[in-house]
Amino acid sequence: MKISVIGAGNVGATCANVMAQNELASEIVLLDIKEGFAEGKAMDIMQTAALLNFNTRVIGVTSDYAKTANSDVVVITSGLPRKPGMTREDLIGTNAGIVNEVAGNILKYSPNAILVIISNPMDTMTYLTFKKSGLPKNKVIGMGGILDSSRFKYNMSQALQVPATDLEGTVIGGHGDTTMIPLARLATYNGVPITSLLPKDAVDKIVTDTMVGGATLTKLLGTSAWIAPGAAGAALVQAIVRDEKKIFPCCACLDGEYQQNDICIGVPVVIGKNGIEKIVDYALTSEEQAAFNKSADAVRNMNNVLKDLQII
Ligand code: APR
Repeated sequence: MKISVIGAGNVGATCANVMAQNELASEIVLLDIKEGFAEGKAMDIMQTAALLNFNTRVIGVTSDYAKTANSDVVVITSGLPRKPGMTREDLIGTNAGIVNEVAGNILKYSPNAILVIISNPMDTMTYLTFKKSGLPKNKVIGMGGILDSSRFKYNMSQALQVPATDLEGTVIGGHGDTTMIPLARLATYNGVPITSLLPKDAVDKIVTDTMVGGATLTKLLGTSAWIAPGAAGAALVQAIVRDEKKIFPCCACLDGEYQQNDICIGVPVVIGKNGIEKIVDYALTSEEQAAFNKSADAVRNMNNVLKDLQII
C-alpha cells in the first residue's frame, strides 16, 4: 500500500503521523507547495520511528507529483484553514482553485487512487472533485462526518462522565456549523439511548456544542484544529487500506439516497478497499429528514458558488 497526503500543514502532517504510527502503508508521501516544508515534516515524523517502533517510510516532497505515483489512497488537506470568526464556507474560492489543481495532478500519476477530501468547505470540495475528476462516486470521499461524530462522542462523554469509547453517535448532513445534524435519537452509551440518561436540555447542549465544535477550537487556537481532523482522516484511510467494512458518516455523492441527487453530503457509508462500498440509506424521522433537506439546500447553495466562479 502507498498513501500520499497533499498539504503538509497542521492537518496533513498530523494525519501522516498517525498513519505512520499505525503502519497503514509501507510508504507515505507528504507533498506541499511550500519549499522544504513537507521534507521537514516527514523528517520530523521519521525521527520518532525508533521511539515509537514503526517501519512506515514517510517521504516529503515539494510539488513533485511524480513521487506520489501509484498511490492507493490520496488525502487532500491543501488549502487555507479557518481563522477566528471565519466559517468553513468563507474558504471556498481559494480552496476550490487549490483542490482542483491538486486533484488533477494526483490523477495524472495515480489514476486508480481513492481520494479522501479534508480541505474546507469539505462538502463542496468533495463535489468539485467528483465533478471534475470523472472518478466513480465510491472513490471520492469527504471526511467531515467522522470528525464531527468524534466530537459528538467527546461532548457526550463530558456530559455523562463516561469513556468516549463506550459511546455511539453519528453526525450526518453538511460539515458546517449550521448544517450538521448530530443524531441524538440514535446516540447510545453501550446500547442505552443517551436520551434516557440525560435531561433534554443536556442533550440539546451536546448537539449545539458539537455543531460549533470546530469554531470553538478555532477561537481558542487562532486557527482551525488539526489533531482530531488528522486522526479522523487516518481512521478513514485505515478502513480503506485494511478493508475494514466499517460504517462511518462520510461525505458521499448521492443519487437518490436520503431523497437527494447531485450533491455530496454526510451520510452513513460502509468503507472498505473499494472506498465507499455502500451508502446506508437509513430511514430518518420526518423531523430529521426535514433537517437533512435543509442542510442539503445550504450545501447546494455553496456548490452553486463553484458555478458562479466558473470552476465547474
Ligand atoms: N499544493 C500543495 N499544498 C498546498 C497548496 C497547493 N496548491 N496550497 C496550499 N498548500 C499547503 C500549504 O502550503 C500548507 O502547508 O496546504 C497546507 C495547509 O496547511 P495549514 O495552513 O496548516 O492548514 P491546516 O490546518 O492543515 O488545514 C488544511 O484542512 O481542516 C481543513 O479547514 C482546513 O481547509 C483547511 C485544510
